[in-house]
Amino acid sequence: MKYETLAFDGEVLRLLDQRKLPGTIEFFTAKTYKDVEYAIAEMVVRGAPAIGAAAAFGVYLAAAEYADLAKGEFHAKLAAACQELAGARPTAVNLTWAIERMLSKVTAMEGEPVSSIVESLLEEAKTIVREDVEINKAIARHGNEIVAPGATILTHCNTGSLATAGGGTALGIIMAAHNSGKNIEVYVDETRPLLQGARLTAFELMQAGVPATLIVDSVAATLMREDKIDLVLVGADRIAANGDTANKIGTYMLSELAGRFGVPFYVVAPTSSIDLSVPDGSHIVIEERSAREVTHIGGLRIAPEGIKVYNPAFDITPHGNINGIVTEKGIIRPHYARNVSELLGAE
Ligand code: MRU
Repeated sequence: MKYETLAFDGEVLRLLDQRKLPGTIEFFTAKTYKDVEYAIAEMVVRGAPAIGAAAAFGVYLAAAEYADLAKGEFHAKLAAACQELAGARPTAVNLTWAIERMLSKVTAMEGEPVSSIVESLLEEAKTIVREDVEINKAIARHGNEIVAPGATILTHCNTGSLATAGGGTALGIIMAAHNSGKNIEVYVDETRPLLQGARLTAFELMQAGVPATLIVDSVAATLMREDKIDLVLVGADRIAANGDTANKIGTYMLSELAGRFGVPFYVVAPTSSIDLSVPDGSHIVIEERSAREVTHIGGLRIAPEGIKVYNPAFDITPHGNINGIVTEKGIIRPHYARNVSELLGAE
């Protein structure tokens, strides 16, 4: 990608403002953890791995802000800031994953001076970013194996470099397949209400020169019935221990269609999106966002004033609808309840 999704310049976190893409290239400067919290909640930065990386810098910014306090107060304030950050968006587990990883660094350095803790938190946030870049590469390598030459792929929402700190997850596979000369084509769901497909995925695909066609979400059934889709690739915000997957609203519908028409349906995500503490999808909290996202497009009201709105940002795809979960450690196949924890080396 031509523009960096997030970059830390030593003092502030610079985020490409995804609310304004593709029309306006503008950067949001997060100087404090509260700015980071705002950026995540308002979706200046979005996409599970990118949210996690941004939050890691948020934890560092909080620690830097409290660096002059006495040790006890430093720890108490940092813990409170982390709790605030964790509440910015509830569904993507990468948010709490990154915060917990940062806090475990703090715990490991308990006896050391605050200044050393703060320093190493910055290093840890940078490490999360570096690792995400490598994770995305490994995902693309594994995922490219399931893409046949000439395949037409349907994708939903945005899972590209805008949604990660690296080259993307599902979209990273698409980029890898294109770059390896497979002559693929892509259908991009516009992804209402916030149009991440139309605004962000279409933007990334066009920049990379990948042949792509934008559709409204309801076209998918027709394309599948006409045998025009060979593969569906989507991301994940949280994967339960049994493989049930929370992802952008509309993913579940796609998975049902894919099953109906015999189209392979794959979830693509780093292992940090897997939450073994959640046994199945019914335990995943689904974020509900504001009515305005549905009643307005680009600031313009499209629905009558006073209409009731239901706006869940994610849905759950049952594990039975998923042919495989592509991670940086390889592709997980059913039986997920066994194979997910085996891959993670859990008990
Ligand atoms: O609401 P968003 O834009 O943060 O939702 C993003 C998605 O649902 C993505 O598919 C998911 O986070 C995976 S990003 C690699």
